[in-house]
Amino acid sequence: MKIQIINGPNLNLLGVREKSIYGDSSFDNYFALLQQRYVNHSLHYFQSNHEGELIDKLHEVGFDYDGIVLNAGAYTHTSIAIADAIAAITTPVVEVHISNVHKREEFRHNSFLSPNCKGIIVGFGLDGYRLAIESIVSI
Ligand code: DQA
Repeated sequence: MKIQIINGPNLNLLGVREKSIYGDSSFDNYFALLQQRYVNHSLHYFQSNHEGELIDKLHEVGFDYDGIVLNAGAYTHTSIAIADAIAAITTPVVEVHISNVHKREEFRHNSFLSPNCKGIIVGFGLDGYRLAIESIVSI
């Protein structure tokens, strides 16, 4: 299967940023492990700090990939444009958050994206990406 992982703003700093919340592994290191684990699938990774670039990537892959794993970072809580992009494409999107956003500040409790996603995985650390992939490959 062709699966696209998309990470939004500040997630390029995983392993450096607020380690007590997000852990100490870089995403590049974690992604290498995912690729080893899913050798029979085609995994792709994209990260951007820019809302429009995230939307462009959703449009690019959203009609022929088998699944998208999206952690839109703080845009989750603000972006109607990303919510609209998810609604516009046909590839199912699994929303992932590394931290349990519901244990954190109130403004992180709302996601504009969730109603347009196939499912949501929250609070399992980086392992949430594996769980999301598992949900796609086991279809
Ligand atoms: C996050 C949670 C968001 O609230 C935050 O803005 C992030 C990361 C997570 O993975 O836990 O950047 O999406």
